[in-house]
Amino acid sequence: MPSLFGRGLLTPALILLVGAVASGQGAENRITVRADRPGPRISPTFYGLMTEEINHSYDGGLYGELLQNRAFRDDSRAPRHWSLISDGGGAGKISLEPGLDPSLRVDIERVDKGQRVGVANGGYWGVPVKPNTTYHVSFIAKVSPGMRAVEVGIEPTKGGADQASRQIAVSGADWRRYETDLRVGRAPASLDNRFFITAANPGTIWLRNVSLFPPTYKNHRNGNRIDLMDKLSAMRPTFLRFPGGNYLEGNTIAERFDWKATLGDPAMRRGHQGPWGYRSSDGLGLLEFLQWAEDLHSQPVLAVFAGYALEGQHIDPGPKLAPFVQDALDEIEYVTGDVHTKWGARRAQDGHPKPFPLKYVEIGNEDGFDRSGSYDGRFAQFYDAIKAKYPRLQLIATAAVRSRKMDLLDDHYYRSAVEMARDSGHYDGYDRKGPKIFVGEWATVMGRPTPTFEAALGDAAWLTGLERNSDLVVMECYAPLLVNVNPGGAQWPTNLIGYDALTSYGSPAYYVQTMFGQNTGDVVLPAEIALASKAATSTPAPHGAIGVGTYRTQSEYKDVEVTHDGTTLYQKDFSQGMDGWGTRGGRWSVVDGALRQTSNAPDVQAYAGDKNWTDYTIHVKARKLGGAEGFMVAFHVLDGRNYWHWNIGGWNNTRSAIQRHEDGGVDEVGEATPTTVETGRWYDIRIELQGGRIRGYLDGKLITEVNETNRPPAKPLYVAASRMSRTGEIILKVVNFSAEPMATQVDLTGVSRIASKASGWMLSGDLDDVNSVQNPVKVAPQAITLTDVGRSFGHTFPAHSVTVIRLRAR
Ligand code: AHR
Repeated sequence: MPSLFGRGLLTPALILLVGAVASGQGAENRITVRADRPGPRISPTFYGLMTEEINHSYDGGLYGELLQNRAFRDDSRAPRHWSLISDGGGAGKISLEPGLDPSLRVDIERVDKGQRVGVANGGYWGVPVKPNTTYHVSFIAKVSPGMRAVEVGIEPTKGGADQASRQIAVSGADWRRYETDLRVGRAPASLDNRFFITAANPGTIWLRNVSLFPPTYKNHRNGNRIDLMDKLSAMRPTFLRFPGGNYLEGNTIAERFDWKATLGDPAMRRGHQGPWGYRSSDGLGLLEFLQWAEDLHSQPVLAVFAGYALEGQHIDPGPKLAPFVQDALDEIEYVTGDVHTKWGARRAQDGHPKPFPLKYVEIGNEDGFDRSGSYDGRFAQFYDAIKAKYPRLQLIATAAVRSRKMDLLDDHYYRSAVEMARDSGHYDGYDRKGPKIFVGEWATVMGRPTPTFEAALGDAAWLTGLERNSDLVVMECYAPLLVNVNPGGAQWPTNLIGYDALTSYGSPAYYVQTMFGQNTGDVVLPAEIALASKAATSTPAPHGAIGVGTYRTQSEYKDVEVTHDGTTLYQKDFSQGMDGWGTRGGRWSVVDGALRQTSNAPDVQAYAGDKNWTDYTIHVKARKLGGAEGFMVAFHVLDGRNYWHWNIGGWNNTRSAIQRHEDGGVDEVGEATPTTVETGRWYDIRIELQGGRIRGYLDGKLITEVNETNRPPAKPLYVAASRMSRTGEIILKVVNFSAEPMATQVDLTGVSRIASKASGWMLSGDLDDVNSVQNPVKVAPQAITLTDVGRSFGHTFPAHSVTVIRLRAR
């Protein structure tokens, strides 16, 4: 059995021995795997990774740097994350000296004998210390006359002996670079530490680029955190999509990922404002991305900036776009050019003479959001220039274009588990004559900051569908990949791998990725499921109460009316208060006959009415008072985890769409419409519900219409089968999405012999189970061994489980 987990990750505590049941004995359902009818080849680059700077993925995450705001650029007014140390009767002050190359000024006014004054940095929610480990310190400094030495070190935040420290001789009024190592001895691993630079005599020190690095993966200078790289490596990714995501685009064009500014000495990189609310140091720049891919034996999937930024700024095709196209050509040359090319020489100078392999280049990110309609032309301009110089590169479009033949199209999905499972056959009937598909971002969005086990089940069901269709879907990658779980660390709700500065853990969804990524054949084998008894498929008519809500916005609502076939079911003008209404979060009150919400919390709701209402029309008036977005009017409300709403002016007040909240997961249903809500104006909102049909009107105008009448239910079992030509093994991936164990007969046609013993992995748990820093392997795969396996054997797939079985076949 192959090892599922890389070094130091996890040794499965339990090996289950499962006796297979001989043909016909007690199995009810049937899975037939047609080894005699091999299907398409599985793309060798099927399982990969997607990454960007979000949730402190790099700074405060994968990138080794331990100090936050090392270059004093995070805040132009103050040296954020740095604090004064003044021990005993000492006195001093710290201040930011702003400018193009800002510095931290430390004025030491008085130091008592044997004491110290200086600065401390608490890292990214703590400075981690591990026993018998060497940390590398570097900084650029100038000092006032008379200042001869500083002490650098790591100490417990709550006091006590230094973990490690060193004296460094300093001198001169010119900027100089200093470096030293700090060796931590037998101290236990801890997180509650800070880094310091202090002096024992009065004077002034100016500091730039103060850096503290732990040992890194493969000992690269300026490299990556070892535990996270080990976890990524265990996924066996075949590619790395970078640098984003929204991080590629930036909120404005000036804030895009400008790859040229991320090269060279990390201490000289200026960094830039990212779209996820914090600055990036750019310590993890283009070369580091490439090195990262190389370290994982993956190929880069290089996304190039294509002239569109998130806030809507775009550059029309034509001469103004030409410099950006040239920038992409330069970037490709940096990645692939030999040392005699201009940018290949620059890469060699940066430390990597050998060109990197490159097959895929992605033009932009999610350009379907570009409402100017410029993407077709922008794509064409990039396409023509890149294909002319690099005809073998495969170019990925991020929204459908007509003017050029897309090699691949990048599709993104963020959904609930039920929806993932239901839509597992999404690509089954797709046109095979169109572009290949890259599912470049997807995830079951349930669980914060990392997925629940239910999310992992949804992912697994979805993956079986992708793998089955891998003649069309040639690459896939989950997103987002990484999250710093500290308060304020995450911007995105559900992310694959969580960590603080000291430890990390894989979520249940991570283990699904690992189980699937490590057990992939190279040929799809058709596999059919016949269920013994048809699960009840009749679903009740859509029904539920009503509600109003907000997302980081203050709004008020009045004149609520619910009608059915012209009859009034409910009416509320709030003149007598809000009796009959319940709330979930937020600050609700009645002011001047309107129901007002004044907090800035996300996703809050007030609700009323009867859960049995069906086929009704809601009428409500709404006014925005302040905040980031607009209105949410809810219907089919069953409880806080199950309801629908029309989100009007969501996504930072840019769009409106119907959203379905199911078991805590959320799906966007139908097309979004560009919508911006004005503050201070009363709007008239009407939602008509008829069976699965939903129509939303704003001020009498139809804005959105969806029809969900024929939505298929999720199935209890999902399967994907493949063969590994090299070894002849047949790999079976089975997801039991149901709450019942599924006794199943597995028939393999077209094989003469199957070894009686088979091995594999099984993941199961309660739907709400999560892993965490405190409990990292609550949900983790168990190794299983099946005995008495044959060309036809029975196996019971446990309720809510993901099973991978490797069968040795001839
Ligand atoms: O993965 C998180 C974000 O989702 C990506 O930045 C963006 O491409 C998508 O909208």
